[in-house]
Amino acid sequence: MNGRERFLASFDGKSVDRPPVWLMRQAGRYLSGYRAVRAQHGFWDVCHDPELSTKVALEPLARFPLDAAIVFSDILVIPQALGLDVTFGTGEGPKVGKPLRTRADLDGWNTSGLIERLKFLPNAVKHLAGALKGSHAMLGFAGAPFTLFAYSVEGGSSDDFMHARVMLHKEPKLAEAALATLADAAAELLAAQLDAGADAVQLFDTWGGLLSQDEYRRFALPALRRITNALRGRRVLLFVRSGHHLLPLLGDSGASGFSLDWRTPFAEARARYPNHVLQGNIDPVLLFAGDDVVRTRTRALLDEMKTSSNGYSRCVANLGHGILPGTPESSVESLCRTVVDAR
Ligand code: CP3
Repeated sequence: MNGRERFLASFDGKSVDRPPVWLMRQAGRYLSGYRAVRAQHGFWDVCHDPELSTKVALEPLARFPLDAAIVFSDILVIPQALGLDVTFGTGEGPKVGKPLRTRADLDGWNTSGLIERLKFLPNAVKHLAGALKGSHAMLGFAGAPFTLFAYSVEGGSSDDFMHARVMLHKEPKLAEAALATLADAAAELLAAQLDAGADAVQLFDTWGGLLSQDEYRRFALPALRRITNALRGRRVLLFVRSGHHLLPLLGDSGASGFSLDWRTPFAEARARYPNHVLQGNIDPVLLFAGDDVVRTRTRALLDEMKTSSNGYSRCVANLGHGILPGTPESSVESLCRTVVDAR
């Protein structure tokens, strides 16, 4: 069974002898090959060049026994294609120029021909698919509407995303309209990646955990449902960072599975969602604690994932958030090996 076969079998509810494994943010930052490419090329140049983005997406697959590749891109391609000015300064997170603060700002978003400006991403998927030839599962992705809204309103990263969260309450109609626009863009972009050969897609709701249950229900879920309704029947994973309190609501998102962060107990999520795919949820910080810690934690996760004496189903081994810059490659190897050797 190759990586793609294993990923699809587990995702679609068949029993496999070990879970498939991939790692969020596996293709960037911590890898020397990526840093060498970035020394020569700007971030957006890598995204827009199918040869370079494929090279970067393949690097972790050559280094570690992973079952899936994720296309190289960023969640902020959507605000950028809408006309916001997105830049990545060194070590300070993204900056979004022309942030959304008024109705006039939203009216200025350029939604016509949006998918044409994002064609580079399905093109990158197609190119990566050609290189993989079915050996590994291939994931596309997009930012979840609330997380894209948070960056677009705030103008960059933030601890509390004050402007974005104030807007939900002070100008709920404007917030809902922006969330709907972002959701429609994400739906179109994910459909294009699936049509280009992605086996599944993941929505990253990195900042969704800032919201209360009431806020998530009112603002985030309707936008997520716009996406899953448009993608009905296709494989969609939803990652909500710091989202333990939102777990009871996630079933209403329409996603086929959830990527759990390390603060959500796997067994609790499984009890609540017996028929969804569950992915996760090793704390990326543990990869700095040495190989023994990594192996022990990975084995404990495998025990939680095992559904019966005859194997694993609807689960994907992964981290609880993106792999951190500076992560020792030996830890990544230990994690993957422990999963691969599991029986
Ligand atoms: O394998 C991969 O995961 C690479 C593809 C990928 C990137 N960003 C490339 C990237 C993916 C899946 C993302 C998702 C992403 N981007 C998220 C959701 C996941 C998460 O970590 O919560 C978020 C919140 C972003 C926004 C973003 N983009 C930030 C905060 C930053 C700066 C800090 C950083 O490195 O994460 C980026 C820039 C970015 N996106 C880089 C990479 C490799 C670093 C840019 C560089 O090389 O200079």
